[in-house]
Amino acid sequence: MADWRLLIIIAACWAAIRLAVGETHEPDPFLRRTLHVEPNKHLQHLATISDTEGSLARTFFSPAHRRAAEQIKSWMQDTGMETWIDAVGNVHGRIKASRDGTQAVLLGSHYDTVLDGGAYDGALGIIVGLAAVKGMLLTELVQRGWLDRLPPQPANDMDGDIVIPPTLASSLLTHGSVHLVAFTDEEGVRFQSTFLGSRAVAGTLLKYGMLSSRDRSGNSLEQVLQDEGGVTDPRVAVASLALDPTTISEYVEVHIEQGPVLESRGLPLGVVAGIAGQTRLWVQVNGTQGHAGTVPMRNRRDALVAAAELITAVEALCTLPEGEGGVPEEDNLVCTVGEVKVWPGASNVISGHTGFSVDIRSKTDSVRNDVVRQVLQTVDGTCHRRGVACSVDRKHDAEAVLSDPDVLRNMGAAASLAKPLLLAAFTQEEVQRSSGMLEGLQSVPVLVSGAGHDAMAIAERIPKMGMMFVRCRGGVSHSPLEYVEPEDVTASTAALAVYLWGRLAGSLDAESEAAASEAPVDSGSSKARDEL
Ligand SMILES: *[C@@H]1O[C@H](CO)[C@@H](O)[C@H](O)[C@H]1NC(C)=O
Ligand SMILES: [Zn+2]
Repeated sequence: MADWRLLIIIAACWAAIRLAVGETHEPDPFLRRTLHVEPNKHLQHLATISDTEGSLARTFFSPAHRRAAEQIKSWMQDTGMETWIDAVGNVHGRIKASRDGTQAVLLGSHYDTVLDGGAYDGALGIIVGLAAVKGMLLTELVQRGWLDRLPPQPANDMDGDIVIPPTLASSLLTHGSVHLVAFTDEEGVRFQSTFLGSRAVAGTLLKYGMLSSRDRSGNSLEQVLQDEGGVTDPRVAVASLALDPTTISEYVEVHIEQGPVLESRGLPLGVVAGIAGQTRLWVQVNGTQGHAGTVPMRNRRDALVAAAELITAVEALCTLPEGEGGVPEEDNLVCTVGEVKVWPGASNVISGHTGFSVDIRSKTDSVRNDVVRQVLQTVDGTCHRRGVACSVDRKHDAEAVLSDPDVLRNMGAAASLAKPLLLAAFTQEEVQRSSGMLEGLQSVPVLVSGAGHDAMAIAERIPKMGMMFVRCRGGVSHSPLEYVEPEDVTASTAALAVYLWGRLAGSLDAESEAAASEAPVDSGSSKARDEL
C-alpha cells in the first residue's frame, strides 16, 4: 500500500467525522472511548492482575497469568474477534476478512511480566492492538454511515466497553484479516528461556529444544504442559501451533521504547528499523593468587587488575568516535560488562581468578563481529603483557533482525497522520495539554531496538515485520516506575488504527478516493516522511 492511500483515507476520515477543531471542540464519544478511555483503563486493570501483593508479577501458568489470559480473551470478544487460548497459553483473537483469499495482519506482544515489573512492557502492545482494531472498525463504520448497525451500547464508559458483533466486524474487513496474539511468555522468568509464546507461533519452539527447559523446581516445560496445562502430547500440540507464514501479510508490534531517546527528543512515537544482534562473551583471567601484604607490587600477576584494565578497554573500544576508528552512530554499537566474578574475593588476597561477561550489541552484524575480534585481540595483548592466562568463551550469538522497509514507511506515515483521530478523541483541555505531543507526531524518528522482542522470534518465519516504539518516562522499564502518558498510549492506538485501516478496511470507492485526493494534505506529513 502506497502512502497516498493512507493520506486520502485519513483526509476522508477527517471529513466524515466533521471535526469542530478550533471552535467549541467536542470529542466524538465513540472514538474517545475506543481510542483513549478503554486502552488506558485496560492497562490499569491488567496491572492489578498479579501474583504478588503490592507489586506486579505474572509468570508462565501462574494463577494471575491465567486470570490475565481470560481477561484479555474477554476484551478480544468485545472487539468482535473469535478467540481461543492455545496449548502454551497464547491468547488469540482473530477477525476474518469478508473476502476469501486474503492474508492477515498479525499483531502481538506479551502478557507475562518480570518479577516486580511495570504495567506497560508487553501489556501495551496487546491493549493498544485491541483498541486500534476496535478504533479501525468504528472509523470504518463512520466512513460507511453504518453506525446504526451497532447494537445498543453501554451509555458511557463506566457502564462498560463498546462491543462490536463478530459478523459486523468481519463485514468491515474487505482487504484482509486481523489476528492478534497475546504471547504467553517473552521474559522467560519461569524457564529462563525467552520468546516461548512467539516461538510457538513461529513454529521454532521445538527447534530450540525449549520443551526440555526446566523451571526452578526442575520440571521441564514438557512436564508442565502435561501436568498444569492438561496437554496429552506436548510435542504434537506445540507443533500444531505454528502459523502458516503464507497466511500472514506482516507482523506489527507496539512496545514501550525501554530507552530514553524518544523522551529526550520530545517525541511520542518512533518506528523501529531493526532489533540489534547480540554476542555474549565470558572472559576468564587466571593470575597468581597471593598475600596482599607480602607479594611486592612488581611481582604480582593480579587477575582482578588485569580484568579491570580489559573492562575499561572494552568500553573505550566501543566509545571511539567515528573519526578515530570507531563505528558510525547508526550502527548502534553498545558494549556492557555487567557481571564480574572475583576469586577468592577477599580484601587481603590478590585475586587468582577473575571472570567477567561482555555483552556486545549492534544493528550491523559485521560491526558486532568486528568488535568481537578486537576484544579478542585486546585480551590477547593485555594478558600477554601482564603475564596472566586468559580465555574467551563465546556464549551466545543472535543476528540482527531488520524491519521491512514498507511496513516501516507505512507505520511512520500512519503515525504522522494520526492527529485527526486524536483530535476526535480528546477533549479541548486534552488537546491543549497535548499540543507538544500532537506536534511531535509530525516527526517520527527511526530507532533501533537494543532489547529483544517477540518480533525477533516471529521474524524468523515472517520477515515482513515492523515495530512501533512509544515514549516511556525516563526510559525506565522492568520496574514499577515504568510509565507512559495516557495521551501517548492514545497516540500509538490512533497510529496503529490508521495503519490497520489503510491495510484492511478503507471502504472508499473510486469517486470518494478521487475527491479525497484533492483534499489538502498537511504539509507536515511529507516532512515526516523525509525523516523516515
Ligand atoms: C583458568 O583456571 C581455571 C581453573 O583452574 C581452569 O579451568 C582454566 O582452564 C584456566 N584458564 C586458562 C586460560 O588458563
Ligand atoms: Zn517486552
